Amino acid sequence: MLDFHPFVVGFAVALLSVSVLFDILAVTTDRPHLQTVGWWNLFLGFLVALFAVITGLYAKNSAIFTEGVESLLPYHQYLGIATAVIFTVLFVWRSSMDRRIRQKWRILYLTVAIIGTITLLTTGFIGGQLVFEHGANVQEVKELQQRIEHLESSTISRDSSVTDQN
Ligand code: HEM
Repeated sequence: MLDFHPFVVGFAVALLSVSVLFDILAVTTDRPHLQTVGWWNLFLGFLVALFAVITGLYAKNSAIFTEGVESLLPYHQYLGIATAVIFTVLFVWRSSMDRRIRQKWRILYLTVAIIGTITLLTTGFIGGQLVFEHGANVQEVKELQQRIEHLESSTISRDSSVTDQN
């Protein structure tokens, strides 16, 4: 099956960060109508983030585990799950307030939203490192790895047959 993760994650990063940006603008410039923009981006972004986690867990099964991928993937996975949980909580909370951030909850809500944005951007950054520095799920890297393993196993069997002859 196709790897949808790279396709989905761009939407999650864009929608959720724009959502938080508009909520901050709404509160700091005292323009409550901007919260509507924040709400719709949050609604779509949290759905896409859930999809990003599902497609990520699926992509993990076909990833190539080079040393770099092995050390970075757990951070990426758990930060990605934490991000989805944080924005799901914000979505449920926001829905319970009729889509508007109540005055008394503003600081707490925006603090949680900023923490969520930091985990989101860190997840995306590590995701980029996984692909562009360590070749996770890059077809050509997989093929090279297979060729190296094949060469190594044929070298070992040739060396052992030479040792046997001696
Ligand atoms: C909100 C959640 C997540 C976000 C925003 C996210 C973001 C990203 C980004 C930006 C990339 C680089 C893709 C590219 O540049 O083409 C990536 C790659 C990757 N991510 Fe995630 N990710 C999330 C959750 C997860 C989870 C839970 C896993 C599970 C292990 C995961 C596994 C992977 C894998 C294996 C790759 C390598 C490329 C691939 O196989 O598609 N991700 N991610």
